[in-house]
Amino acid sequence: MMNGNYNDMPDRRMPDMDRHDEMRERLMGKESQGTYTPERGMNRDMHMRTGAKADPQMVEQIYSEIDERMGKGLCFHEQLADYFCFLGLQGFKRMLEYQYMNECADKRKLHRRYIDMHHRILPVRQIQAPVFIPQSWSNYTTENIDDTVIPKFVKSALSEWKSWEEGTKQVYEEAWNMLKDAGLATDAGHIKHMIKDVEKELKDIHRIAETLNGTGYDVNMIHGIQDKYHEKYKSKYNEKYKKNKTKEPITAEWDRTRRIGY
Ligand SMILES: [Fe+2]
Repeated sequence: MMNGNYNDMPDRRMPDMDRHDEMRERLMGKESQGTYTPERGMNRDMHMRTGAKADPQMVEQIYSEIDERMGKGLCFHEQLADYFCFLGLQGFKRMLEYQYMNECADKRKLHRRYIDMHHRILPVRQIQAPVFIPQSWSNYTTENIDDTVIPKFVKSALSEWKSWEEGTKQVYEEAWNMLKDAGLATDAGHIKHMIKDVEKELKDIHRIAETLNGTGYDVNMIHGIQDKYHEKYKSKYNEKYKKNKTKEPITAEWDRTRRIGY
């Protein structure tokens, strides 16, 4: 039986889980560029009153912060998919794989959008990958897994997933506020969609946790719902990422000069 020292759970929390304010702080550090101060908040007067263009450096910084969070989110979701796969919970694994792919596509969309809207390229940043799976798990194989460990591992994974998404939502909301205050309504609108996606993800997590909570995380219940999730997310995945689709015809909306709508 795998004991899986899961007591180290608090120690392996991602360093950025509790630092939602870091984006704000980093932007505060840009005070010399006149973009943000803790006392004054976003220097909105500059943008709103005069209608002057938003500071490109500030915009790049906001997009970079979102991009960094998305990069870390991909690492997190990939590990979560591995985690459920390792535990033999194929339905949850499929769900996380589908989520991983969606967020990967969303990250690409963010880059594309930044180039299209701001005609610049996002700089490459080193990110510190969050570590979700305990190091000690590398000492075990799937044969060490039995039903006695499943409930607590599922419960803590759902809890960490929820914490991660709450943190992500805060990062996006911060960015949304800044873009809105800078008068960048279109950019802010895109981030608003991303916030709604995170809210939907949180709702899904809550629904699963609620279902399992009602049974005290009964292991039979956990196993019992795997087929349903497996089928649901396998078909969603295939529909979205594997199915051969007819190529979209080129239309007038495909505006090469504006570079929008690709
Ligand atoms: Fe997510």
